[in-house]
Amino acid sequence: MKAEQNELITRIGPGTACGAVLRSYWQPVALVDEFDPRLDPRMAQRPLKAVRVLGQDLVLFRDDAGRWGLLDRDCPHRNADLSFGRHEGDGVRCPFHGWKFDATGRCLETPAEPAGSKLCERVTQRSYPVMEKSGVLFGWFGEEGKAPPFPEFDCFAAPATHTFAFKGLWNANWLQAFEVGIDPAHPSFLHRFLSDAALDSVGENAAGRQFRSASAGDFSGEKWPMTRIMREFHQPDISFEPRPWGMQLTALRPMTDELTHVRITNAIFPGTFVIPLSETLTITQMHVPVDDEHTYWYSFFTSFAGPVDKEAMRNQRLQFISLPDYVPKSGRHNNWGFNPDEQRAQTFLGMGEEDINVHDQWAVESMGPIQDRTREHLGTSDKVIMANRRMLLKAIETVQAGGTAPGAADPAQAGQMRGPDTVDGIAPAGTWGSWWQEKVRAKRAGAPWLRQPEAAPEAQAS
Ligand code: FES
Ligand SMILES: [Fe+2]
Repeated sequence: MKAEQNELITRIGPGTACGAVLRSYWQPVALVDEFDPRLDPRMAQRPLKAVRVLGQDLVLFRDDAGRWGLLDRDCPHRNADLSFGRHEGDGVRCPFHGWKFDATGRCLETPAEPAGSKLCERVTQRSYPVMEKSGVLFGWFGEEGKAPPFPEFDCFAAPATHTFAFKGLWNANWLQAFEVGIDPAHPSFLHRFLSDAALDSVGENAAGRQFRSASAGDFSGEKWPMTRIMREFHQPDISFEPRPWGMQLTALRPMTDELTHVRITNAIFPGTFVIPLSETLTITQMHVPVDDEHTYWYSFFTSFAGPVDKEAMRNQRLQFISLPDYVPKSGRHNNWGFNPDEQRAQTFLGMGEEDINVHDQWAVESMGPIQDRTREHLGTSDKVIMANRRMLLKAIETVQAGGTAPGAADPAQAGQMRGPDTVDGIAPAGTWGSWWQEKVRAKRAGAPWLRQPEAAPEAQAS
């Protein structure tokens, strides 16, 4: 890839071409949890925080009426930092000269101005619409009044009892974070355990142990952990198909003449993947630029069976991530916890068994703040990465020409922003296509929050 192209697809600040594409979608700005005084005691008195999204500095607060305000952070008077403002219940007051703004950015007072001054009426602070979905606050940074309908993906359609959201900071560009996530070849290596834990020791909610769970289906009457299949069959036959939201990814690992392992995941354009964690739990993970060199991932866990135990899921993850900014405890500063003895005896990577998230973090961060794609050499197993870049380049071109970005950004496609379905299982080699759709149908039929069983959108489309 040429250096100019790499710049084009990675830079996302205001005024950039790729930034315009990302601003065509609702983007996460914070977890609702970040305003929970039990997790951040500062929020009891002052529910306000500085956030940075897409290279923009913002202040996010909740007023006494429960409205969310997401405003540019620089005070429109002389640009002091509003995240140090006085939270006054009905708005935020800048400590420099006392100008006050409500959640919509309306100026309420300019107290240093002479009595009768009309200055306040002529000033508005730019505010951004906020939507709360499944424990996450989303902001709209595109053209005012042009926000598309919020997509009805499973992670948003499921009730609060069946979803849990969490996030973490990676010190690298958003695109390489996404490209690690959608890479169907890497679990066979990066997440490889050299031996398998007993399946019954793997709790469904265990943080970071997803590949320890059993694949659906069985092999000669035996359940296999995903990781064993990934390890023993490491040359997946990878394919992808366009879907209204982006791409459906298929990785086949033929095991015998009769059986094949099938893993179906999804890439939701421009920065979200959906993968199975177990037969009844999926992870939808969004990659949101803080700026060009930092990214928050936001994960939504969605249960198609019983309710999730949010407290337990959060506590498991807080072993590895520090509040209030959701910064991983491992990182470049401590070599991501690398242990050569572990690498020799236990894991392919040597960065611990309990938190596979740090494996991905290493892959993402070790490339450097912005991967230099002029230096890489892609192979056949990177075809999904290449397809995604083509899609991104095309979207950049479309948006630059005044068109609409694809998928969830396109109001005309809103009705198709559903699902998408995932599976990880051992299937009959000849009929894996119908096998996985049957698995999905059963999973959806078993979800208490889906009123009636419905065919997978994939089944209708193909
Ligand atoms: S800079 Fe904010 S009131 Fe003057
Ligand atoms: Fe991974």
